[in-house]
Amino acid sequence: MSKINNYNKLSIRIDDGLAMEACGKQVAEAIVSSKLPGAQIHLMGELGAGKTTFARGFIQAMGYDGHVKSPTYTLIEPYETPYVMIYHLDLYRLSNPEELEFLAYRDLCQENSICLIEWPEQGGKMLCTADITINIVFIGDKREVGMTSVSSVGDRLLQRL
Ligand SMILES: Nc1ncnc2c1ncn2[C@@H]1O[C@H](COP(=O)(O)OP(=O)(O)OP(=O)(O)O)[C@@H](O)[C@H]1O
Ligand SMILES: [Mg+2]
Repeated sequence: MSKINNYNKLSIRIDDGLAMEACGKQVAEAIVSSKLPGAQIHLMGELGAGKTTFARGFIQAMGYDGHVKSPTYTLIEPYETPYVMIYHLDLYRLSNPEELEFLAYRDLCQENSICLIEWPEQGGKMLCTADITINIVFIGDKREVGMTSVSSVGDRLLQRL
């Protein structure tokens, strides 16, 4: 895993699905070790880029030992973990951002919780601002994971990685 670190950006080369899960695990561990009460994480990248794979590694590293499935149809999946509540959202099928009101999403992102959001572009202005954006790009069958911090919470997180 190669790594380039600027002050608010981090770029990691990921070889396969297992390495992507490990990357999610590293971010989860950084949240716990920096004692952040919550975080808004936006996951971007084309279909099949590895967003759900990253989320699976993250959620399991937080102590959830069940199956982590894609929230493509449910739009949101809650996970109770010993450290914090995690909400995993996939907004690909959202037909308009107002639908987020039915998911009580605005309440969730105010709480001390972690939201992992796939396809955040679909949420428009209804989304709470991100602390960190993660952009996954295909490099052949490998991936480049670019993390950008966009808040002081995000800065604290990136410093731990
Ligand atoms: N380098 C890699 N990084 C991540 N995933 C990889 C890599 N190489 C192969 N894969 C595989 O690609 C697939 C990625 O699927 P995943 O569901 O995580 O994508 P996604 O970004 O969530 O897609 P969607 O937009 O449809 O929700 C998995 O089957 C994973 O094992
Ligand atoms: Mg997905």
